Amino acid sequence: MEQLRIPGPTPCPDEVLQAMTKQMINHRGPEFGQIVNDVTDELKQLFQTKNDLFLLTGSGTGGLEAAIVNTLSPGDKVLSVAIGVFGERFAAIAQQFGAEVIPLNFEWGKAADIDSIRKALESEPKIKAVLVTHNETSTGVTNDLAQISAVVKQFNKLLLVDAISSLSSIDLPVDEWRCDVVVTGSQKGWMVPPGLAMVSVSEDAWRAHAEAKMPRFYWDFTGAKNYLEKGQTPWTPGMSTIFALATSLKMILEEGLASIFARHARVAKAARGSVKSLGLPLFADEKHASNTVTSVGASNGLDIKKMLRIMREEHQIVLGGGQRSLDGKIFRIGHMGWVNEGDIELVISNLKVVLPQAGFRS
Ligand SMILES: Cc1ncc(COP(=O)(O)O)c(C=O)c1O
Repeated sequence: MEQLRIPGPTPCPDEVLQAMTKQMINHRGPEFGQIVNDVTDELKQLFQTKNDLFLLTGSGTGGLEAAIVNTLSPGDKVLSVAIGVFGERFAAIAQQFGAEVIPLNFEWGKAADIDSIRKALESEPKIKAVLVTHNETSTGVTNDLAQISAVVKQFNKLLLVDAISSLSSIDLPVDEWRCDVVVTGSQKGWMVPPGLAMVSVSEDAWRAHAEAKMPRFYWDFTGAKNYLEKGQTPWTPGMSTIFALATSLKMILEEGLASIFARHARVAKAARGSVKSLGLPLFADEKHASNTVTSVGASNGLDIKKMLRIMREEHQIVLGGGQRSLDGKIFRIGHMGWVNEGDIELVISNLKVVLPQAGFRS
């Protein structure tokens, strides 16, 4: 079987896949209502929040769009703290809906600098919200969200967080860090196929929502809240994916958040150590290297595209390439969700064989 080691979608345990074969039931009936309520409560535990939380049928990007259109109005100034492809996408959505985006872009491979965020907030008092990516999947960097939040809240701004590739794998206590809207996606650390975005909404986000004028229909949080009171979603949800999530949540809660974070930290450390021992450079600043994805640079003649092809075709191991300007310059090893040290050892032992075939001279 192919080993999928891209940073999402991630492999799913058999029990989770099996749950998706459940026959359809009435999505407005009591059985499904119980599932929606249970899943929502369990997700709140894992988001470490008492805020409202909604299951949205769509991909992570839909969740990011929901965060923006539900809290902002055209013309609002937003500070976009971007450290890679997904940070820039978050800003592009805000711009598309008429926000005045103030970009604060950092070198790819580095984390956001807290003092620069403070200066940007000082120099533009009319900023309403700050957009930030907790874990930038395109570069393998995790921002220091606790520190970012401390600055953002010092200035009393809304904090909208893309936690698509971190939540459930890397600690993100939503309430403690006062995050207003937090978005994650089922296909990442949740061990579930793609199709669901999960978002939490704080009281401050609700206050912003009451005044927000950006156009919205499918993603409207008021509709989501009204329907959740009846154990429903406004529109027909991706029921099979919710069945899968109900199963994966049991597994996640059984392992426990602390153990899951520790496992991801261990696996990521092993990945970084092994990559370096192969003689390859880490792309991400090691102080902020992600525990869910390791990005690796090219060196010593390595043809990354050739290596990825040989790994895929001859070893059935699928790794991620670089995105946009990093295409052909880095590769990425995904290690979120259903993963342990053995999976990384397998990648590394195969890389040892393939690297010289792809031009690498150690
Ligand atoms: C950090 C981050 N943000 C946004 C996205 C986009 O999510 P989706 O592809 O589910 O729309 C991804 C997916 O890779 C991601 O990793």
